[in-house]
Amino acid sequence: MKDTADTQNFRLWLKDRCGSLVSFDEPMSRHTSFKVGGPADIFVRPDSRDLAVTILMRAKESGVPVFMAGDGTNLVIHDEGIRGLVMILSNVPPDIAFEEFPDGNVLVTAHAGVRTKTLCRIAIERGYDGMNFALGIPGTLGGNIAMNAGTHLGAMEQVVHSIRILSGNGTLKNLDRKDLNFHYRRLHYPTLTDTTPLPVIFEASFLLRKGDKKTIGDEARAIVSARTKKQPVTLPNAGCIFKNPEGKDPAGKLIDMAGLKGRVQGGAMISEKHGNFIVNTGNARAEDILYLIELAKKEVHERFCVELETEVKIVGL
Ligand code: EPU
Repeated sequence: MKDTADTQNFRLWLKDRCGSLVSFDEPMSRHTSFKVGGPADIFVRPDSRDLAVTILMRAKESGVPVFMAGDGTNLVIHDEGIRGLVMILSNVPPDIAFEEFPDGNVLVTAHAGVRTKTLCRIAIERGYDGMNFALGIPGTLGGNIAMNAGTHLGAMEQVVHSIRILSGNGTLKNLDRKDLNFHYRRLHYPTLTDTTPLPVIFEASFLLRKGDKKTIGDEARAIVSARTKKQPVTLPNAGCIFKNPEGKDPAGKLIDMAGLKGRVQGGAMISEKHGNFIVNTGNARAEDILYLIELAKKEVHERFCVELETEVKIVGL
């Protein structure tokens, strides 16, 4: 990050305003599910939405680039680290509101830093149908909506009713479902013109249905148990590395057929359990993971003429 009078003032302001919630040159390996990543110039974990908005607006005024890291999942941050400010929202307390309607619909509103698994758990406890598809998706609601995260049972687009994003002037702007174009692992905002520097999702409402608690709970247990058998849930990872290519075999199957499961580079390994996962077996560096990503792309392309595209975000330098 360029050291200017503005960025220096921003650092001083942050230190004063955020105390222990901000750190400088913070190793991102401490905050990513992969447990890799070099230092962020500035790392901040606001404990309220107002504070998050204030920081983002000040960063914009000071010309400091911002990266919203969700919950640190679905990410590979380079060993050289990341310039500018990295923010996570999962430190904001998870206030969640529920509105039940006579027709059985339920509108659940939560802030973007709430973990998706928290919403899944609450839906099961309350007997709300609709979230079980997301069991096992790591990360926060905001991050998962932004990438339309999903499983073979569905994707976020099925349940999102509306979202609130931070607009350029610092106010929260409501976007209804009709203002959102969901695609496979992508979200576009066709009606957005005035939001800079990023459409940061701050809050979302989900449309679920009142259902039978026992049926929903039984279904959830079966999904979690199937997933635990198939995926390397005990080692640090970032979820699926690649998107499933359209109209082709799933990425994990292609990597498996290319004989790459169990391939090791430094402290990283293509999971022996599931070809679309890379695991950190102890002391992986981002460069080990990036090597395996390139290897999988190359081998799958050579053997099957399929271009794999990463689902994880690769950021930093
Ligand atoms: N397969 C293999 N070898 C492997 C892995 C998979 O042959 O090493 C085969 C399986 O036997 C199955 C097919 O490939 O026939 C699909 O595998 P799986 O059921 O595991 O689903 P997936 O398409 O690989 C998707 C999501 C996961 C989600 C699971 C379960 C994507 C990119 N991945 O995986 O999401 O957990 O379904 O619903 O859509 C994530 O997004 O981070 C993620 C892990």
